Amino acid sequence: MKFFIDTASLAQIKEAQDLGILDGVTTNPSLMAKEGISGTDRVMKHYVDICNIVHGDVSAEVISVDFAGMVREGEDLAALHPSITVKLPMTRDGVKAIKYFHDKGIKTNCTLVFSAGQALLAAKAGATYVSPFIGRLDDISTNGVQLIEQIRTIFDNYGYSTQILAASVRHPMHIIQCAEIGADVATCPLSAILALFDHPLTTIGLEKFLADHKKAAQQKVSAK
Ligand code: G3P
Repeated sequence: MKFFIDTASLAQIKEAQDLGILDGVTTNPSLMAKEGISGTDRVMKHYVDICNIVHGDVSAEVISVDFAGMVREGEDLAALHPSITVKLPMTRDGVKAIKYFHDKGIKTNCTLVFSAGQALLAAKAGATYVSPFIGRLDDISTNGVQLIEQIRTIFDNYGYSTQILAASVRHPMHIIQCAEIGADVATCPLSAILALFDHPLTTIGLEKFLADHKKAAQQKVSAK
């Protein structure tokens, strides 16, 4: 399973890239706003800065809601860097734009997917990625991980090459459950990725190894 980081923070992207396990980045307008990035020029520059850090696909979301605007914006975004994947919302115009970009060989990510039917439409239009938001489904007492399972079955039934990108991941168990089901990608906050490293037995075991090593070294010195 590929690991993407879901942030527009250059510091967090760099930290995840330095770990050696990062495969890409997803952003959205809320995440850009959180970093205080606004205005077309600054937004465009920020995407290029992200692409220069990570070796993998970088989802850049359009703001337009009409087909013509999505095409215009998406073409400008795609021209920035070969890693850019144009992120489009699950709407009628969004799906039309996915088909348009698919025919032009430009990568797309269909965002704001909350049902299997929506995922099927995105796959039929030729989306590179489809992004089911599992955390936001959990928030309304609906099992988000079950949606990943349902989409996996449907895509496998028909051999769709669209990659399932589990989004709105909130914690390490979401990541594990997505991997068990066979999601192609999980896009995660840095905190959820870092939490995967932790296990108390690893910490205790390492402390014991180092203590034993130190004791043996001291015994060697005192024996001289
Ligand atoms: O990038 C879209 C998605 O991952 C948002 O997550 O936590 O705002 O529901 P969240």
